[in-house]
Amino acid sequence: MKVVSTQRSQVLAGRLATAMNIPLIDVRWQKFPDGEIYLRAEESSEQIIIMGSVLTSDDLVELLLLKDAFLSSEITLIIPYMGYARQDKQFNPGEPLSARAVAGILGMNAKRVVTINIHEKTVLDHFGTTTTDLSLSSLMGGRIAELSLDNPLILSPDEGALYLARDIAGSGGWESDYLQKTRLSGELVRIEPKEVSVRSRDVVIIDDIISTGGTQSTAAKMLMEQGAKAVHTICVHGVLATGAYARLLSSGISSVSCSDSIERACSTYSAAPVLSEYLRTIPL
Ligand code: R5P
Repeated sequence: MKVVSTQRSQVLAGRLATAMNIPLIDVRWQKFPDGEIYLRAEESSEQIIIMGSVLTSDDLVELLLLKDAFLSSEITLIIPYMGYARQDKQFNPGEPLSARAVAGILGMNAKRVVTINIHEKTVLDHFGTTTTDLSLSSLMGGRIAELSLDNPLILSPDEGALYLARDIAGSGGWESDYLQKTRLSGELVRIEPKEVSVRSRDVVIIDDIISTGGTQSTAAKMLMEQGAKAVHTICVHGVLATGAYARLLSSGISSVSCSDSIERACSTYSAAPVLSEYLRTIPL
């Protein structure tokens, strides 16, 4: 059993290989003059863990090429961040079901697919093979504990991610709630917790993904107006598109944390322990 990864996931793949005490295969990457990707894996293995987060189209192509290079192996495919999982519905005629299209090609020829806090669990059905979605909630709880906050309130930005807020809160014995949006007028919206007051409290807004940071920064500003002592934020997947990190900090958020499912400067905790613990339980 060996591990190999796309360029996007080399740090997490290295950590996983170390945690499992198995070799990490070196890969040579190049681009042809026309922009096409070339790769060559330096070793083979009968059983292979292939890892690659899909944030961009090049990430997807790298992962498909890497899978093809190991076609004669038994493949366990780990997709820490599964892009396109938010495009899981057709709203208008003529639109693709993008999550299905991407999962369908990724799942082909893989013995199993492992994801981490995938945005929408129904997407797992499109891989066409055995799937497992792992949660980093206990690691997120551990990271929050490191911040030494005073009885923090764990808030989900909507009802959809309340399951994650509850799991995280449960790991530290904290309170949880979710944010509710009330439209006050055509332009004015009030965001506040459904039940719990934030006055004089340390608040942690959690989410599976921070993309533009719009949700978190708008909520943080409102929570501070409502008297929160400090607002921190933690997510699983730090997509951090279009200046999101600066947007978060300039809104007054005290700290930003994400996992290494996408390697970022604010990746303060690693998914490797959860992945290695899971991989040890399956017959490889
Ligand atoms: C959406 O349902 C996700 O769970 C996140 O809440 C969303 O992706 C955050 O987006 P943004 O950072 O752009 O507000």
